[in-house]
Order: sequence, then structure tokens, then C-alpha cells
Amino acid sequence: MKEALLIVLAYLIGSIPTSVWVSKRFFNFDIREFGSGNAGATNTYRILGPKWGTFVMVVDMVKGIVATSLYILIPRYLGPEHEMIRTNLMIGLGIAAVLGHIFPIWAHFKGGKGVATLFGMIIAIQPEVALCCTGVFILVLFLTRFVSLSSILSSIAFTVLILFIFNDDIKSYRIFSIAVALVVILTHQKNINRLLKGTENKVPIFKGRDR
Ligand code: G3P
Repeated sequence: MKEALLIVLAYLIGSIPTSVWVSKRFFNFDIREFGSGNAGATNTYRILGPKWGTFVMVVDMVKGIVATSLYILIPRYLGPEHEMIRTNLMIGLGIAAVLGHIFPIWAHFKGGKGVATLFGMIIAIQPEVALCCTGVFILVLFLTRFVSLSSILSSIAFTVLILFIFNDDIKSYRIFSIAVALVVILTHQKNINRLLKGTENKVPIFKGRDR
């Protein structure tokens, strides 16, 4: 039953609505009423600038890392013979945190798109894969300046990496890798529509280029 309690705790950690609290506490407005309306790091960057955008991104990522690492509170799963059950527990904890981020209990269940928290989760499970996904993210961002497209393509890269490159043999992890891309595509429906219409916002990251 300890596992169930940890899953609830992971959901509560994921539910911390960083961007909403920052905008309300320090700027007296709700970030969800501005920009893309998303309660995430990109919209915070867009509305409140790089300092707060980075802060939100780091905290949202750390939520994923901490929630997924809660398995260490069950010492009997720490041995190498329990790799399978440990991975399953980490996936369950991470998913709970990502669901918390998307549907936060502390912010009327209207949260972000899950990318930073998913990324933190992947760092906790397999850092080398997280590094490869970061490479894809940065490359797409550099080429297009669309954070949404970078998020979608790096989540698809995650699926490809797990299924075909790292060939992970834990079935639940393979299924999870497919779910990651599906969730990111689902939470980015509005972005996809804007990308198709040519109206998606670019992020002003690289100096000297227009918005
Ligand atoms: O992770 C969210 C990002 O991919 C898109 O955010 O605010 O442009 O909808 P936003």
C-alpha cells in the first residue's frame, strides 16, 4: 500500500502549478489568461521573460525528477533483482506527476502540457535518453523557434529511441514510450492547429531575429 501512497504524493508534487503561483504571487495575474493560455514554462517565458521562464522550467522538471525518484522510499525495490518492478513503479510515479502537472489539484485542474515534468521523469529513469531528447529539442528549436514543435518532435524521438535504438526490453517502458508521444501530441492540439495555419508563436530566443 506504500506504493499507492507514493503515487498520490507524486500526483500532489506534479500538481504544484509553478507558473500560476509565480504569476499570481509576484505579478498579480493568472498566466492562463495571457499568451497561449498555457500554465507552462514557455508561456511564462513569453509573458514574464527569460528569468521566470527558466525558473518555471527548472521547477517543473524537478517535480518530475523528485516524484519519479520517490521509489527510493521503498528500500526493498532497490536491488538489481528488482529492476523490472522498480521501473514499473517509476513509470507509475512519473505518470502521476505528469497528470498532476496537466490536471493540478491546486489550480482547478487547469495546468500545463506536461513536457517539462515528463522530461524530469525521463531524466530520473534514463538520463542518457533525456540527453538525446534534449539534443533533438534544441536542434528543432534552433531551426524553427517553435517550442511546441520541438516538444512534439523530441517526444517522438523518445519513442523511437526506446523502441529502436536503446531496444529496452521492459514491455511497460516500451508502451510508456509510445504513450509519451501520444500525450504530448494530445496536449499540443491547439499548437498543431496553429502550426498548420502558420499562426503559431515563435519564441524570441536568438538575438537579431524577429519574433
Ligand atoms: O511545453 C509547452 C510548449 O511546447 C508550448 O507552449 O505556451 O507555446 O503553448 P505554448
